[in-house]
Amino acid sequence: MYPSLVYLNGAFVSPEEARVSAFDRGFVFADGVYEVIPAYGKRLFRLSQHLARLDASLASIRLSNPLAAKGWGEICARLLTANSADDQYIYLQVTRGPAPRDHAFPAETRPTVFAYAQPLKYPEPAQRAAGVAAITVPDIRWQRCDIKAIALLPNVLMRQQATEAGAAEAILLRDNLVTEGSASNIFLGFGDTLVTPPKGPYILPGVTRDLVVELAHAHGIACEERAVSENELRKADELALSSSTKELLAITTLDGKKVGTGKPGALLTRLYALYQDYKRDFRAGKVD
Ligand SMILES: Cc1ncc(COP(=O)(O)O)c(C=O)c1O
Repeated sequence: MYPSLVYLNGAFVSPEEARVSAFDRGFVFADGVYEVIPAYGKRLFRLSQHLARLDASLASIRLSNPLAAKGWGEICARLLTANSADDQYIYLQVTRGPAPRDHAFPAETRPTVFAYAQPLKYPEPAQRAAGVAAITVPDIRWQRCDIKAIALLPNVLMRQQATEAGAAEAILLRDNLVTEGSASNIFLGFGDTLVTPPKGPYILPGVTRDLVVELAHAHGIACEERAVSENELRKADELALSSSTKELLAITTLDGKKVGTGKPGALLTRLYALYQDYKRDFRAGKVD
């Protein structure tokens, strides 16, 4: 479903009224970046972290941020009023704007800024209780996966492969190492120890990932950010994916085989509960 209201280049309009040039470099070259920011009780969650990542993505593609943090905050706040739902997410994207087709940057840049809000759809309780299926696929992406780029064709193809296999996510393997999911980061549980691949050019620095690591440290749970081999992936007691919209979701089968007992495990279930506690405190205005 389309949202009823969108923001485009300074105006709040209906999706039908929102028009972008066919020569927009976002359309022609996928020359742009994006963010997805959850809002609970209409409050934007981890806004400064998302805006910092947006800044980093924009700096990486050498495009200056068209808006200051205050401007982004105001746009998001207005968009959140368009839906009645308490829990929503903001999608925003910035492209290098319209210009005659040429790979090199245009002399003058007029970035296109687009954003909207939609109600958050949480995984069904039954799905959360059972966990989801994942498959492994070769990571066919480029060498700057740390940029939240709108060029998502490899991610689209890998996710489609998972969907056709009846799985919820594709876990990506590069040079025998686990990177992340097609639209998520990955956590592994080995006994009482949480493990997640380290940040670097081959993964997106997930805001949810960072919070899960933060919560583990705050609650004395052993947490290692280190390279994970394919072999280890297949031996993990527990697996979970993390993202702003899925939060922390157990993966209970991998390539058709049970992960651990085949049920969400104790360690990642505990971290999910800590995440929910944190959200509750956030709604109550106790944490940022
Ligand atoms: C490739 C990829 N990795 C990780 C994530 C998780 O990032 P976040 O927790 O900031 O939503 C996403 C989110 O969409 C993603 O697309």
